[in-house]
Amino acid sequence: SLLALILAAAAPGLADDNARSVSTLEFKNKFRESGIVPEVIAALDPAVSFYVTYRAADGHSELLVPGSSLTVGETAQPLEFSVENLQNATNITAQTRYLIYLLDADAPARSNPTARNLRYFLAGNYSAATANSTVLSTAQRLVIPAGQARPFTSFIQPAPTANSGVHRFIYALYTQPARFSSTGFESVGMEEAIENWNLSRWRTQLGLGPAIGATFFTVDTGANNGQGTS
Ligand SMILES: *[C@@H]1O[C@H](CO)[C@@H](O)[C@H](O)[C@H]1NC(C)=O
Ligand SMILES: *[C@@H]1O[C@H](CO)[C@@H](O)[C@H](O)[C@H]1NC(C)=O
Ligand SMILES: *[C@@H]1O[C@H](CO)[C@@H](O)[C@H](O)[C@H]1NC(C)=O
Ligand SMILES: *[C@@H]1O[C@H](CO)[C@@H](O)[C@H](O)[C@H]1NC(C)=O
Ligand SMILES: *[C@@H]1O[C@H](CO)[C@@H](O)[C@H](O)[C@H]1NC(C)=O
Repeated sequence: SLLALILAAAAPGLADDNARSVSTLEFKNKFRESGIVPEVIAALDPAVSFYVTYRAADGHSELLVPGSSLTVGETAQPLEFSVENLQNATNITAQTRYLIYLLDADAPARSNPTARNLRYFLAGNYSAATANSTVLSTAQRLVIPAGQARPFTSFIQPAPTANSGVHRFIYALYTQPARFSSTGFESVGMEEAIENWNLSRWRTQLGLGPAIGATFFTVDTGANNGQGTS
C-alpha cells in the first residue's frame, strides 16, 4: 500500500517486506539463463536455497535473488547469509561448517574477461545458527562466532570499470571439509592472488564437493555513468 511505502521510505534500515523464497529449481534455471552455467561453472544443481542480504540504495536490507541487478554502491559488504533446505544437502550435521565466496566472472570486462575469476571474498568456518534471517524469516542464518572471523580473502567491494559490460558476480556456498575446522586453506597450498582464480583446480585442492547453493547479481557498467541500476 502507499502508506506502507511511505513508512518504509521514511525508516531506513527496515527489512525488505517483499522478500520471498526462491526454489532450488529457480536458482538452477537462472544460472543457465545467465550463461554462468556452463560458461563459468560447469554445472550447478543446488541442494539448498542460498541467500545474501545487502543494503539497497534506499537504506533497506534487501534479499539478493538470482539475477538481481545492483548499483556499484549496493555491492558493499554483505549484511547476512542464510539458507533454506539445509537438511537436503548430503552429509550435513550440526557440526558441519561452510565456506562462502564472492567472485566476478567478467573481470575486467565482459567481452574480454582476462582476470576471470576475480575473487572478492572467501571465508570458511560458517555454521548454521538457530536464528533466522531478518529479511526472510524462513531462512536459517549462517554465522561465524563473534571474534572468530578470519576470512582467507577479506571482503573487497567490487569496483567494475564503467562501460565494461554487464558483470556477473557469484556467491557460492560449500560444505567445508572437516580438516579446515582447525586449519586454513593455505595449509593445502591455496594462494592469496585474487585474479584468475581457477575454480576447478581450487575444488580439487581443497577436496570440495560441488557447491550446495549459489546465487548471483549483475552490475550494468554501461548504465547510470557506470554506476549500474538497482
Ligand atoms: C531435496 O533433494 C531431493 C533429491 O535430490 C529432491 O528431489 C527434492 O526436490 C529436494 N527438495 C528441495 C526442497 O529442494
Ligand atoms: C560423508 O562424510 C563422510 C565422513 O566425513 C565421508 O567419508 C563421506 O565421503 C561423505 N560422503 C559424501 C557423499 O560427501
Ligand atoms: C527458521 O528457518 C528454519 C530453516 O529454514 C525453518 O525450518 C523454520 O521454520 C524457520 N522459522 C520460522 C519462524 O519461520
Ligand atoms: C577455522 O577456525 C579455526 C579455529 O579458529 C582455525 O584454526 C581455522 O584456520 C579456521 N579455518 C578456516 C578455513 O577459516
Ligand atoms: C583450471 O584448472 C584445470 C585443472 O587443473 C585445468 O584443466 C584448466 O585448464 C584450468 N583452467 C584455466 C582457465 O586455466
